[in-house]
Amino acid sequence: MADLPSVCATIAEMRAVVRAQRVAGKTIAFVPTMGALHRGHAALLHAAHQQADHVVASIFVNPTQFGPHEDFHRYPRTWEADLAVCADAGVGHIFAPSAEEMYPPGARTGVEVAKLQDQLEGLSRPGHFRGVCTIVLKLLNIVTPDTVFFGQKDAQQARIIRQMIHDLNLPVEMIVLPTVREPDGLALSSRNQYLSPAERAIAPQLYRCLADVQARYHEGERQTSALEAELRSELLDITGFRLDYAHVVEADTLMTVDCLHKPGLALAAITLGTTRLIDNVTLP
Ligand code: PAJ
Repeated sequence: MADLPSVCATIAEMRAVVRAQRVAGKTIAFVPTMGALHRGHAALLHAAHQQADHVVASIFVNPTQFGPHEDFHRYPRTWEADLAVCADAGVGHIFAPSAEEMYPPGARTGVEVAKLQDQLEGLSRPGHFRGVCTIVLKLLNIVTPDTVFFGQKDAQQARIIRQMIHDLNLPVEMIVLPTVREPDGLALSSRNQYLSPAERAIAPQLYRCLADVQARYHEGERQTSALEAELRSELLDITGFRLDYAHVVEADTLMTVDCLHKPGLALAAITLGTTRLIDNVTLP
């Protein structure tokens, strides 16, 4: 069994570790997470290990990115298993602060990425991306990595963070890795644990519908209205799915266009029982 990573619970401890690594001339790769780690997170951690001398992962269930009626309190917390995943991936340090450490009373500043934050997930989850961007900026300021890793599973999040890094001149390279899936196509997610066996059995239909749209794109269809109509009607046909949104947009702007001349994204969000699932595919 690999060495267990060291855990930093305070910002001061984390900064001291980073300082020591820098003095020793080491490069740092960083993977921010909310824990309940699965093979999707592990792929990011392994890639980080390939990239840099020292890997830092954060495990912090960030309260400010959850809406008042969302699943903050029941979000899975699997600390022992997470440690093992991090150890296996060669993580050197885990930053696992308390909410009080990250948000002492009186904080007033938040990061917003206009336009990109207001569509898709942002419409369904007001304030979500402000919470995400603010915590990611704080984490980047504390860990000061050379490279930071994100997953394409959260395509809009990745696009927004790329914009924030660019707009705020953050001195970090961002790498986005493809979505890791179960053999039946279901994108790995910490929230998959909420699914009952019956729900788990139909959940892969979300990806199947997105993959059908990707196939239509590969056959030559570029009209977003046609692609989107197919996606929506297929999703609406699945008993048990409640459709939140289904859109085909330009990947760079996340805006609807008539015809895809540039790379696109098909994205959808559904609720299955009490579990909200999101997924996306790139076009091409
Ligand atoms: P979390 O959902 O734990 O995800 C952490 C990282 O893992 C994100 O970059 C996410 O896109 C990636 N990821 C999740 N599932 C994946 C999969 N199936 N394949 C590949 N990558 C996957 O995203 C967050 O946490 C938070 O918003 C965070 C950025 C940590 C800020 O709180």
